[in-house]
Amino acid sequence: MDESLDSAQPGVESPDGSHGHAPRAVRRDAVRSTDAGERPLLRVENLVKHFEKGGGLLGGPRRRVYAVNGISLSVRRGEVLGVVGESGCGKSTLGKCILRLIPPTSGRVVFDGVDVTTASRSELRALRRRMQMVFQDPYSSLNPRMTARTMLREVLRFHRAVPRDQVERRIVQLLEDVELGADALHRFPHEFSGGQRQRLNIARALAVDPDFLVADEPVSALDVSVQAQILNLLQDLRQKRRLTMLFISHDLKVVEHFCDRVMVVYRGFCVEDIAADRLYDHAAHPYTRVLLEAIPPDDPCQRKEPQMLRGDVPSPSTPVSGCPFVARCPIAEPRCREENPPLESVGDGHRVACWAVPTAAPAETA
Ligand SMILES: Nc1ncnc2c1ncn2[C@@H]1O[C@H](COP(=O)(O)OP(=O)(O)OP(=O)(O)O)[C@@H](O)[C@H]1O
Ligand code: SF4
Ligand SMILES: [Mg+2]
Repeated sequence: MDESLDSAQPGVESPDGSHGHAPRAVRRDAVRSTDAGERPLLRVENLVKHFEKGGGLLGGPRRRVYAVNGISLSVRRGEVLGVVGESGCGKSTLGKCILRLIPPTSGRVVFDGVDVTTASRSELRALRRRMQMVFQDPYSSLNPRMTARTMLREVLRFHRAVPRDQVERRIVQLLEDVELGADALHRFPHEFSGGQRQRLNIARALAVDPDFLVADEPVSALDVSVQAQILNLLQDLRQKRRLTMLFISHDLKVVEHFCDRVMVVYRGFCVEDIAADRLYDHAAHPYTRVLLEAIPPDDPCQRKEPQMLRGDVPSPSTPVSGCPFVARCPIAEPRCREENPPLESVGDGHRVACWAVPTAAPAETA
């Protein structure tokens, strides 16, 4: 963990479609990005993160965890890019590397023209005001000994986000923005419900008025009834503040509703990148298709036996040779064991990494 960066982030303690049951009240209106063609706000180039585990004082065999294996992506201003995949596929690691909460092994992250990966301490401090993260577990990411007011005050002061005489007013405004009343000011994290704690987390992330938010499974720890409220709040804030987001989730249904584009990750590789409104009808990677088929339809009469994935996800310490999905793919062919397919355009801004999916003609990829 890059300590210097962690301390620059107060409160960070180390660490309606017809398919399925996403929170039904999640609004899809006015979600689409309108900035097509604009230079991306965020560009990630061939990002790699490998963790070394064991050995040294900790003992145990030394091994390497291949968490993120060369992901490239870009996000336009105002766009929400969803990142989905099974547990352990590298979603949070990707988000943390983008914000440089942990240092990547290699690759580059460029935010609004600034190289985050090589930024100096002071540049990084400035970037922290523009790039924030909402963590998955609203409880463990809040300091249990601080009231909402103290927590927000600490962030505002650390980043000198507003003049001193405006701090208190800003705290009240932030609580209002996330629909927590002024009575929340003097409460400690344990005095809030799960949904309220996540609102407080969001307020903390928004305190510095960022342009970009990594929302790491912001609703997965919450009851289904509360999930829709938090997603709608994020949607409203996104519009009001013109936020750009990386929205991490393991729930395709939520991502399809909330995001403009969806990136499907498997074993630290991006295997498919597709517009959210094309996901159900046009997803082409065998892994994405299996994930989609596993979502139960709303109508119980339409239910059919989901296609199950064969085998277990290989250990993240096993280096990938060939296609990362080959051990579980229902249509694998001999070539898939030898060569890892590149992520290639199949037209309409849709990219897939699979030998079985025909790529677009050069004119379509332009
Ligand atoms: N600090 C760390 N040290 C060693 N290994 C790590 C560390 N953080 C993550 N990993 C490993 O990296 C891989 C990817 O983890 P990551 O948390 O990014 O997955 P994820 O997709 O976010 O999973 P989940 O959906 O469960 O949150 C996992 O094998 C995990 O055990
Ligand atoms: S490249 Fe081969 S193994 Fe990989 S997803 Fe495509 S068909 Fe399956
Ligand atoms: Mg995670």
